[in-house]
Amino acid sequence: MKEKLNPWESTDISDYDKLIQNFGIKPMQKYCSKLDDFHLIRRGIIFGHRDFEKIFSHITSGKKYVLMTGLMPSGRFHLGHKMVADEIKYFQTKGAKIFVCAADIESYLMRGIPLAEARQTAVEEYLTNYLASGISMENLTFWFQSDYITPYYLLRDMLARRPTFNELKAIYGQLSTEKIISSLTQAADILHPQLPGLGGKRPVLVPCGADQDPHIRLTRDIAKRETEYDFTPPAAVYHKFMKGLTGGKMSSSDPKSYVALLEEPEVAAKKIMSAKTGGRESLDLQKKEGGKPNECVVYELCLYHLTLDDLELSRVYHECVEGKRLCGECKKQCADSLKKYLKQHQRKAGKVRGLAEEIASKKRC
Ligand code: TRP
Ligand code: SF4
Repeated sequence: MKEKLNPWESTDISDYDKLIQNFGIKPMQKYCSKLDDFHLIRRGIIFGHRDFEKIFSHITSGKKYVLMTGLMPSGRFHLGHKMVADEIKYFQTKGAKIFVCAADIESYLMRGIPLAEARQTAVEEYLTNYLASGISMENLTFWFQSDYITPYYLLRDMLARRPTFNELKAIYGQLSTEKIISSLTQAADILHPQLPGLGGKRPVLVPCGADQDPHIRLTRDIAKRETEYDFTPPAAVYHKFMKGLTGGKMSSSDPKSYVALLEEPEVAAKKIMSAKTGGRESLDLQKKEGGKPNECVVYELCLYHLTLDDLELSRVYHECVEGKRLCGECKKQCADSLKKYLKQHQRKAGKVRGLAEEIASKKRC
């Protein structure tokens, strides 16, 4: 039986081939070499897409396109979220105009987070870390779902005519009023950059985790059937999720499972030292049979974030499987480079805090 993806429940998504088989997500493979200047694509961390062909052709021919994504302002901004920051930054350098929303209506409806708290989190955690990661505020539009322009709300309401109740049920399973409003709001997030006064019809790329695919399918379906408006169905790229440091899910509600980008570097380093590795039960066995980097969160950290040099990464991998690398020393190296990275990142964050607040306070009507 086909399982449903649920964007609001923390299902553990780990079988990416199944997503490709069951949901029609296309493999990203052929772009690994075409966009090899981006490690998340080159290393297959961005594993799948919908309609990326169109975006790729716009990149290569220098035509206009948009990157749109949304953030759920709950909890701290951690290394799992950094992937989206890297994606925004990369496509911004490849000519995308950037639209980013803080999904404070969704976090209020689905998680009960007060709007004022969501605003603070969006600014102090998300926007600050985005800017510190090198995303430029030039050609970036940022808004809160609760405080934006009239055509966006009109669009959201008009879209309610498209999906039937049964279609929504087929996508999301059990429905609620909150889920319906959240998903239509997200559809408006993704489609409104194509409104006539806001840039017009053009390809829009949504980078996200595979848990968001139900929203993408809904929005693409609406775009194809919409008659009041003329939309190109949005494209999407999907990245894999990092495992939590303790071996389970990386989750905002469990600080031991993640490294937040603004946390004390020494505390973060300690988390690495007690992270779950792919090491063997004993030193002897490790030397004899080698470790298992593919099951190691320390290796994963290097793969996703810390070791951008492929040769260096491949050295870690081979030394590990050949038993020439032992976990204690390996973790220490990783912890040191994480500390260095965090310190540098936090210096930048200190400089852009005011700017983040300024962007969030801009009047948008
Ligand atoms: N639902 C997304 C999440 O849970 C947040 C979001 C809101 C979003 N609007 C969006 C993501 C538009 C991508 C595109 O994280
Ligand atoms: Fe992981 Fe390093 Fe141990 Fe290999 S040696 S299992 S990469 S910590």
